[in-house]
Amino acid sequence: MNITVADNEKQFDTTAAWRIVDMICARPQSVIGLSTGRTTGNIHRLVCDIHRNLDFDASRVTFFGLDEVTGVDREYAGACYTMLRTEIIDGMDIDDEHFLMLPTRSGDFAADCRKFTGEIKRRGGIDLLILGLGENGHLGFNQPGSALNCTAGTASMDPVLEARIRRETATPAGVPLGGVTLGLRDIMHARRIVLVAKGDNKAAIVRQMLCGSISSDVPASILQLHPACEFLLDSKAAALIDVNSLRNA
Ligand code: GLP
Repeated sequence: MNITVADNEKQFDTTAAWRIVDMICARPQSVIGLSTGRTTGNIHRLVCDIHRNLDFDASRVTFFGLDEVTGVDREYAGACYTMLRTEIIDGMDIDDEHFLMLPTRSGDFAADCRKFTGEIKRRGGIDLLILGLGENGHLGFNQPGSALNCTAGTASMDPVLEARIRRETATPAGVPLGGVTLGLRDIMHARRIVLVAKGDNKAAIVRQMLCGSISSDVPASILQLHPACEFLLDSKAAALIDVNSLRNA
């Protein structure tokens, strides 16, 4: 397995940011998927800093969001659209044509998902996908129990996240909130993946993801089968695994 362990947060963020920059420099028209959350915010801001300092050509790259919250306005600060805009898209001057997102509201999410995945395919498929890891092993909004071969579609939100978003957006109890996400099959089609996980709270699920059996109970365990997935961890997230023996596995 391809496992990288960063000694500290700064090294973790820098390593991940350079994976993105290296991809853009090697293939300026690349298609790169991004995840939102606490793990990736600093990585995105660092990519902007590197871009500002080195001024490499990012005018042809396509960025897309792995998933999106549904039932809220996309301008809401916790929507993936707004998070990515704030963290990386605006800072790198990426135009609308090169920033693809699933919608937060729609009368036909299935059609939107087909359009979204079709557009990614039309641009040559996913060159690099940066994946966050949920504490329960979710990837995107693919929660435990999701079929390992599922394609893009709507999904339920875990109760903790749902309660927070409901509170922040003052969404009444009767109005459904959820998510829309690339499926696990779409994720596995990415040519290259970097799974990023940091912090003590991810140590147990990192062990399950890498050492447990491949099962829909832990959606991220499917990544054991990906031929070009790097697991980028900080030392806290790697605390419960034997890195050397896994590297030789
Ligand atoms: C959310 C997002 C995922 C993200 C995950 C990890 O569920 N929908 O895209 O990867 O959380 O988030 P964090 O990095 O905050 O732990």
